[in-house]
Amino acid sequence: MYSQHLLQVAAITAISSFVFANPVPLREPIDNLPRGLPLVTDEILLLDAPAFKSGEGDEWIASFRMFTHIRQIDSEIVSSALTTAIEALGIEIGNKASNVLERSKLFFAIPRSGIEADLDVVGCLSTSVGETSKTGLLEQSVGIGACVGSLKQRTISGSVPGFFKGRSFEALLFQSIPTGFGVISDVDDTIKVSHVLDKKKNLQAVFVDDHQAVNGMPELYSKLDVELGNPAWFYLTGSPYQLYPSLRKFIFDTYPKGPMITKNLTFTDFTNMFKYVADDEILGNYKITQLEKLRSFYPEKKFITIGDSTQADPEVYAEIARRYPDSIQCIFIRKVDDADNREERFITAFQGVPQSKWKLFTEPSEVMGLDVASGQCS
Ligand SMILES: *[C@@H]1O[C@H](CO)[C@@H](O)[C@H](O)[C@H]1NC(C)=O
Repeated sequence: MYSQHLLQVAAITAISSFVFANPVPLREPIDNLPRGLPLVTDEILLLDAPAFKSGEGDEWIASFRMFTHIRQIDSEIVSSALTTAIEALGIEIGNKASNVLERSKLFFAIPRSGIEADLDVVGCLSTSVGETSKTGLLEQSVGIGACVGSLKQRTISGSVPGFFKGRSFEALLFQSIPTGFGVISDVDDTIKVSHVLDKKKNLQAVFVDDHQAVNGMPELYSKLDVELGNPAWFYLTGSPYQLYPSLRKFIFDTYPKGPMITKNLTFTDFTNMFKYVADDEILGNYKITQLEKLRSFYPEKKFITIGDSTQADPEVYAEIARRYPDSIQCIFIRKVDDADNREERFITAFQGVPQSKWKLFTEPSEVMGLDVASGQCS
């Protein structure tokens, strides 16, 4: 276990490096991460998984992601250290201490490697995945058979052999055929107010405030959901998986449901977290890799990609549209105040992408009137 002192140092280092852009290297805390048979204190975070058809047959493949870690017994201490650090910056926590506790706890979770899990998808073949890597993470595509019926959403129930019985875990499987529409949406400042360009406000939005939808976006997404005939939805965020539980809840309460793809972030990256999360080049490469992957899962789908101008979404979506012109139907970019919204930026970014395929908007109502299903993007 990390000592209380180390946790406090980590929290304060993280916050101060974030605010003062002066990262203090944190000593790698543990060399021999615990591995092997599960303990009663283990926790498993199973992410919602997309499923796709393999080739011409009836077989489905699911892309599972999982994180196993040791329950952080000291999370109150962690959270109070974080609270102190946040308040020292003049951010009011008020009655939102539970948000800070909820959202920070996975950052201090100790990874568990070498864990295998049995996964049962309703109506499909049971399967198992594993082992989790040194960082406690796992990403694995596995066949789940032909599956009964044509459900779009199925429950995945997971368990770990030898694991305390009551501690099963669940997620959803989102199954989608190769054809039809898909929507890929960014999260921060596209559908959720995150203030990524203002460090202090960003910190407050990430850890303290209740998540808040960008005005008009829930209405736009429900309109697209109907117009595109219940497309497959994907949320591709630069946020690390530690924030997955709270973001997932927000999305499920506010937008059409779909799997969310988050970034890997290990404890050693944590002191650099905000740099790591915000670095446009790292973010861009990660997003391109994930978009490539989604396209390979659904090579015949037509995708609508939606993002904003704060980070690399225009450049990333344009790059994918150049590589796979037939896969990208429309690109919508929300212009966020104070971001680089110069015309030259977009002209450069979208070079080689037909003007008719992309649109910048300030108000979601500007997209509402378009017949996106018929290919009207601007
Ligand atoms: C995240 O980590 C897992 C496990 O090590 C790995 O398989 C996967 O490729 C990583 N994903 C990204 C986006 O780096």
